[in-house]
Amino acid sequence: MKNTLALVVCLIFLSYQPFSAGELNIIPKPVTVVASPGNFIIKNFCEIHVPSEGKELKKLADFLKNSVENKTGRKLVVKHGNTSGGIFLVLNAAAVKETDGYDLKVDENKITLTGNNNRGIFYGIQTLKMILARGKETYFPCCKITDYPRYPHRGFMLDASRHFQSTNFVKSVLDMMASLKLNVFHWHLIDDDGWRIESKKYPKLNEIGSYLDSLNAKQRNGYYTQSEIKEILKYAESLYIKVIPEIEMPGHSRAVMASYPELLCSTNDGGNTYCAGKEKSYEFLKNAVSEIIDIFKPEIIHVGGDERPKGIWEKCPECKQMIVKKKLANEDMLQNYFMKEICNFISKKGVKTLAWAENIKDGIPSNQIVEGWHPGESWDAARRGYYTVNADNWYTYFDYPSYPRTDKPDWMPVLNLEKAYSFNPTPDSLKEDEKKFVLGSECALWTELVLENDVQYQIFPRILAFSEAVWSPEKNKNYENFLGRVKAIKPFINSNGFEFEKGAW
Ligand code: ACM
Ligand code: ZN
Repeated sequence: MKNTLALVVCLIFLSYQPFSAGELNIIPKPVTVVASPGNFIIKNFCEIHVPSEGKELKKLADFLKNSVENKTGRKLVVKHGNTSGGIFLVLNAAAVKETDGYDLKVDENKITLTGNNNRGIFYGIQTLKMILARGKETYFPCCKITDYPRYPHRGFMLDASRHFQSTNFVKSVLDMMASLKLNVFHWHLIDDDGWRIESKKYPKLNEIGSYLDSLNAKQRNGYYTQSEIKEILKYAESLYIKVIPEIEMPGHSRAVMASYPELLCSTNDGGNTYCAGKEKSYEFLKNAVSEIIDIFKPEIIHVGGDERPKGIWEKCPECKQMIVKKKLANEDMLQNYFMKEICNFISKKGVKTLAWAENIKDGIPSNQIVEGWHPGESWDAARRGYYTVNADNWYTYFDYPSYPRTDKPDWMPVLNLEKAYSFNPTPDSLKEDEKKFVLGSECALWTELVLENDVQYQIFPRILAFSEAVWSPEKNKNYENFLGRVKAIKPFINSNGFEFEKGAW
C-alpha cells in the first residue's frame, strides 16, 4: 500500500514536471530557455493577433498560420487587435534590444512572440515550428525563450557551377536555411565548369559556357533564366535570406574562356584566366557584372579572386606591358590592380564586394569584405581592420568526408560532426577591438563530386553544427547536448525533404 501510494505520488509529481529545456530540441540552441508547467493547446480557430498597422507582420502571421495548420491540421485565424487569448505577434525594439532577436513566452492561454524587428519575429516563428516538429503534438509546452543571433552573417554557399541544381531544389535549400536561422545564400554561379546565369549581353556564355562537355554532363549542365533567378530572389526575400551571387575572376573562369577565348592571354591557350593586360577583359567583366547587378540588385556581390594560376601573366606580353604601364611590382600586384578596377566599378554602383582572401597584405578595394578560407586568414583580416567572413575550410567545407573514405581525394581532411561543432569563428586570440570585424561565417558545399541528390548527405547533419556556431553563444555550446538534439530533430529534417549522411558522422 505504502509502495502504491509512493508510486502514485511519484506519477503525479512527474506529470507536473515541466519538460526539460533540452526536450524542446531547438537547433540552433536559443540563448536561454526556461521551462514551466503546462501547455498551450492549439485548438481549432486559434487566433493569431497582429496590430492593425503591420503589413509585414500580417504576412508573418499568415506564414505562422500556414506552418501550424500544415503540421497540426487545426485551423487558425489571423486577427487585428487584442483579445485575451491566442498567439500575439508584437514588435518592440525597446523590449527586445538585440538586433534580429525575439522573446517567446508560452503560457497556457496565450503565446506572446515579441521581436526586435520583423526578422526577429520570423526567427521566433522558426522556433515555434521546430518545437511543434517534435512529434504529433498539437500543443506548445509553456516556456520562456530569449534568443538572438551571435553574428549578422550566417551563410551557406552552394556551388551551382560544378554541378547545376534545379530551381525547386534551390528553394528547398532556402527553406532549410531559414529553419536553421541562416540568412545569407552565397550562390557560387560561375566557375570553370559552367556559367549558370542567363546572359542577354553575352549569349555564348550560355550556348557554350553553360553546356561544357564533361563527366556527368547531363546532370551538370544548364543555367538559370533571368526570370527563374528573380523567382528565387523573391522566395529568398520572403525567408529573410540575402542572396550573394558569385562571379569568379581572374582565375576559375574556363567557362568564360571557352565562350570568349579572346579574353585569354595570347600565351595561355585553353587556360582559365582573364588576360589582365587586355582592355576587353575589363570591358567584358564590367558589362557582365552590370547585367548581374541588374538582375540580382544585390547588397553584396562576390568577386571570387582565389587560386589564380601563377606564372601565366608573366609570360604574356600584354600583361607584362600592363605591369610596366601601371608601375606594378609583380603578378600579384597585377591581380590587386585587376580586382580594384572591377571592385571600384561595382562600388560606384552602390554594391559592396566580398572576395576570397588573397594577398590581403597588398591592400584590398574599399568596401570589400574578406572571406577567409584557409585557417587564420580571417583573423589576419580582422587584425588589419578589414571586415571578414570566416569560412575556415577545416571546419566549414562540407564536400570533405565526415569519415575516412576512399572515394574522396586524399587531400581532403576528414571533417566529422564533432569537429564541425567545435568551430568558433572568432577565437579568443583576437583582441576585443579586432573581434568586431568578424561578421560571421559561411559553410560551403563545393560540388565537383556532388550531384544534386547527394547535397543532402554532405550537408546533414553538419550544417546543424554550423548553425549553432553562428547563432548560439559560444559559452552555451555542449557537444553531448547538441548530439541529443541532432538525433531528436532528424524526423523534422527528413520531413523537410533532406536525409542525413548515410555513413558515420
Ligand atoms: C576556395 O575554396 N578555392 C575558395
Ligand atoms: Zn595577358
